[in-house]
Amino acid sequence: MSFPVAANKLERLATLKNLRILDTDAEITFDTLTEIATIHFSSPIVTISLVDEERQWFKSHPGLGACQTDRDLAFCNYTILSSDIYEVTDASKHPTFKENILVTSEPNIRYYCGAPIIVDGVVVGAFCIIDSVPRQAMTSEDRKLLTGLAYLTAHLMVSHRILSDSKVSLEMQENQRLKSLGVMVAGLAHEINNPLGIALAAITHMSQIAANLRKNVVNLKPTDLADFLEDEEIAFQLIFDNLRRASNLVEGFKDIAADRVLDERKEINLQDYIHSIEQSLKPALKNANCKLNYDIDPTISMQVNTGSLSQLITNVVLNALIHAFDGQKDCRIQIVGKQESQNIILKISDNGKGIPADVLPNLFTPFYTTRRADGGTGLGLYVSRQIATDILKGSLSVQNLPDKGCEFTLQVPRH
Ligand SMILES: Nc1ncnc2c1ncn2[C@@H]1O[C@H](COP(=O)(O)OP(=O)(O)OP(=O)(O)O)[C@@H](O)[C@H]1O
Ligand SMILES: [Mg+2]
Repeated sequence: MSFPVAANKLERLATLKNLRILDTDAEITFDTLTEIATIHFSSPIVTISLVDEERQWFKSHPGLGACQTDRDLAFCNYTILSSDIYEVTDASKHPTFKENILVTSEPNIRYYCGAPIIVDGVVVGAFCIIDSVPRQAMTSEDRKLLTGLAYLTAHLMVSHRILSDSKVSLEMQENQRLKSLGVMVAGLAHEINNPLGIALAAITHMSQIAANLRKNVVNLKPTDLADFLEDEEIAFQLIFDNLRRASNLVEGFKDIAADRVLDERKEINLQDYIHSIEQSLKPALKNANCKLNYDIDPTISMQVNTGSLSQLITNVVLNALIHAFDGQKDCRIQIVGKQESQNIILKISDNGKGIPADVLPNLFTPFYTTRRADGGTGLGLYVSRQIATDILKGSLSVQNLPDKGCEFTLQVPRH
């Protein structure tokens, strides 16, 4: 190795790699800086050189054909050793460079002046002024200007990194979104396929029986007709149940995909708002013979997407009516609302059977339901949690109560 190596070699290379700028295309911003230098210093060659492990690579290099050279040949090896400008006024007379092939042949370097490009405290390369004729040492004003250009270059490189990081993170988010959408659509297709398949099989079966009946219509016995009607009743029930399930799934999916632009965000008084939800739930509560009490701090007002909030609360309350009570006599649901610092905490609890241990970890998983046969889609709580996190920017969790039943906790920012 014919060049000195900086003590912080590994840190230097890591910082350089981390810029993710090596081998990228030319960019007008960097080319503008080298153009300014070309004009100001009347320099035939100007380079923005980045010193990699075994090469120096040029982000911008007017006047020089090659876009990189071997590290062995680089004058910049000396510039990156300190945070000061490194200058060679006549390379043909310099002990280190007089044999250098860049001096003895094209581009016949005589003059070199490099200002270190410093990123995160380490020197990753140099902004270089190069000439094929010897020059006087640079004036202090020009040294300042060159240092300024190197400083701007470092800044540009850091912005370049931030921009490429945010591009990558946006791409990752988009990929993640598409992936979850893909999983969701595949799951939905699978879930819808089952009930539709069953309904189709039932219809096919019935049409075969009807065709047979028609063929033998002259010899038909009354018992044959009775058998047919009995089969038909079972088949219709099967078809009805399964089509209802498919339709519920589509409804649930509409909830997930719903365009919530119309979901107005407005200032509400929480107590009044819960009162209006209670009114809308009255028929269902009466049907299930269940009492709903609410205890909301009357001073709480909040900014919220009202449609989404009511959808979430309704989901959780209806779930209690469907899943919690299993024919129990004294059925109660309670909603408690209070403010903690800048958050609103809404707790919806029931005095039902609680969530069984094997159900608890799957509660918010799409398509997880213990009531598949009754038309449950298993999308209700999944959608509710999506609403809580994505729309209301809060969280939804659940826990079993020590006595009896379970409690859903919604936490949302007040504004
Ligand atoms: N209050 C509750 N008490 C006991 N179990 C509950 C309660 N709420 C929900 N569950 C359980 O959580 C499961 C998932 O609920 P989720 O709302 O996601 O689906 P679902 O109600 O079965 O179907 P749907 O998509 O029609 O709402 C339910 O099937 C039920 O087993
Ligand atoms: Mg539900």
